[in-house]
Parts: sequence; C-alpha cells; structure tokens
Amino acid sequence: MSYINENFLKLQDSYLFSTIAKKVAKYTEENPDKKIIKLGIGDVTKPIVPACLKAMHKAVDEIGTTEGFKGYGPEQGYEFLRKAIVENDYKARGITIQEDEIFVSDGAKCDCGNIVDIFAQNNKVAITDPVYPVYLDTNVMSGREITYLPVTAENNFKPELPKEKVDMIYLCFPNNPTGTILKKEDLKKWVDYAKENQAIILYDAAYEAFITEENVPHSIYEIEGAKEVAIEFKSYSKTAGFTGVRCAYVVIPKALKGYTKEGKEVSLNKLWNRRTCTKFNGVSYIIQRAAEATYSEEGKRQIQENIKAYLENAKIIKEGLEEAGFTVYGGINSPYIWLKVPEGMNSWEFFDKLLEEVNIVGTPGSGFGEHGEGYFRLTAFGTKENTIEAIERIKNWR
Ligand code: MLT
Repeated sequence: MSYINENFLKLQDSYLFSTIAKKVAKYTEENPDKKIIKLGIGDVTKPIVPACLKAMHKAVDEIGTTEGFKGYGPEQGYEFLRKAIVENDYKARGITIQEDEIFVSDGAKCDCGNIVDIFAQNNKVAITDPVYPVYLDTNVMSGREITYLPVTAENNFKPELPKEKVDMIYLCFPNNPTGTILKKEDLKKWVDYAKENQAIILYDAAYEAFITEENVPHSIYEIEGAKEVAIEFKSYSKTAGFTGVRCAYVVIPKALKGYTKEGKEVSLNKLWNRRTCTKFNGVSYIIQRAAEATYSEEGKRQIQENIKAYLENAKIIKEGLEEAGFTVYGGINSPYIWLKVPEGMNSWEFFDKLLEEVNIVGTPGSGFGEHGEGYFRLTAFGTKENTIEAIERIKNWR
C-alpha cells in the first residue's frame, strides 16, 4: 500500500487562481458574447521586451552550433547571470552579495514553495494574513504549525511582531495582495526580531521594481544585519514579463545559519546548494541569456517603460475606484489595488456580481486568507484600453 502525505488533505480543494479560472471558464462558456476583462491573476500583458528577445534569438542560434552548444548548465545558474545580478540588483544599491549566494531558478513561486525542503517540520511559521497562498499551502503540505499575522486597514497593513516565538517568517513587500509597503524602519523591526529569536525571514521582493516612494526598501539586505537572518526571492516575471518564460532567483547569504536539534550551526546556503544540485538542472541557457539582457541599457529602459505603463494603469484603477466611492489601498508602489467591498457583501459575492454584472474578473480577498474577507484585489497588469474600460464599467455600475 502506498500511503499519502495526509497534510495534503488539510488544503483547500483547489488552488485559488485555479478556482477563479474555472469559474470564469464556466461563465464564458454560458455567455460567449460577453467581453470579459481579466484583472484577476497578476499575469502581465506586455510582450517580452526587444532586448530580451534579441538575446534569446542569439542564444538559440548559438546552441545550434558545435562550439556554442550547451548541455547541462550549472545548477545554480550561469556565471554571466549571477554576476549581472550581483552588480545590478545589489552592488548598485550599495549591497555586497557574492555570486555564490545567488541561485537562479524557474520562478519565485517554485522557490518559495521549494525552500521548505531545508527546514525542519517543527519550525513555527508566521505568515501575514491575507497572503500569497503559496507560503501557506506549502507549509500546510509539509505539516508545519502556522501563526497568522493580520494585515488590515486597522493596523495600516503593517503586521505586528508575533506574540509567541516563531522560527520562520514570510514577508512580501510591496505586498501581494494588498499592494502596501513597509518603510525601512518597519522592516528593521523584523530583522531585529529575527536576530533575537534566531528566526529566518523569507522575504519575497518580487514586486520591488514597482516602488516609487523614498525610504521603501527594494531589498531586505538594505537593512543592517539582514544577511544573517534573511533569504530573498526575486523574479523576472512582473518586470521583464517572464510569467511564461520562467526565470527568477533566490539569495541565500553564506552568513545565514540554521540549527540542528543539538544547536549546531549549519550553512543554509550549503543545504540549498545540495538540494539544488540533486533536484534541479538549472534554467535553460536561452532563458538565462534573456534574463541577463534585462540588465543591458536597452533592456533596463524598455522594462522601465513597461513598469511605468503598469503603474499608470494602477493610478487609473485607484483614482477611478475612489471616484466611484470605493475605499482603496495599494497601487502606488505596486501593481495591486486592494479595495473594500461594499457593505453587506462578502468578497466572493462581490466577485460573482462583478463577473456577472460588468464582466470583470478580480480576486476575492478571502481567497488570500480570513483577514482578506471584505476586500477585493484588482491588478494593473491588463492593457491600458481594458483597464480604462473596466473602470468606466465599474463607475457606471455604481
Ligand atoms: C498573483 O496573482 O498573485 C500572482 O500572479 C501569482 C504568482 O505570481 O504566482
């Protein structure tokens, strides 16, 4: 008999975005003449920028030659990309990270999910609520105890330090789903807590490129001492439009230690490297060349244009909803807009109404956790035309 991992039975039946996709597919089938505007899952709509395309084409041609052919690459990522990451994402911000502290991967979702492999089951995990479901579900799958840290309008979307001691803390800022941020002094409290409690912060910085305000950290390593307590996740999905191409990276500083039951220090970088070599064969050469091109002058400029356009969409959504009388959060340093659903409705009811009455898809706040109830998320990743149309529809509907 093959016994299952019964922790899976504790999960909700379906992953949030799959449930939404199914609901939308059903509605579309029953109403084929309706134009549905999707502002639900945070998938981008702008095509891959020319600088990355050019790099991909070149790499494709290269591997078709005897001299340029690439077989298995380094599991941790090619040196050219790790070097570009160190220089551009860290050194340029005054942060020293070594190349061998970077692990290139096929996505931040996968990294956030896989990282639990190197941690013991009896670690107590703190996650914010509402939260990107991957942190929660992957810890439920591996049977860990969860402490929820509410992030709501009442605490200005700043989680409070846990009352009881926790060992692993997931933070995502700019936040998915609320679109809100932590200032440097707010994040410092978490780094200090982690130091005092020998805890690890798993910091998801996938939306860092959308920060527009001062004093908002782009990397947790801007905070002194963070290299001893934090792992950072970064992604090319929402910047270079790699949601389908797949490329990301995780930073595990060598100063970061975990502990055996006996209290012996162990390098987490070493453990992750061991896991990576065993379970992963690296991201394809073609894709890593494309990721490298995001750091070229041309690539940087083209990506900035896309981010600017998505932030303009965010402004259109935020201001339009405010005009329509909604209370709205996020959307300034983030592609996500988090709104209060009208009184007397829960967030799934609002989802259904929005889909059926104005043919717009968003994400119900309660799908991100109990404290997301009463809220709703819209993304700024749609096209400008669709974003304007969606907001007009909502204004007329209200
Ligand atoms: C979201 O909509 O929250 C994101 O697109 C999910 C993801 O990046 O996996």
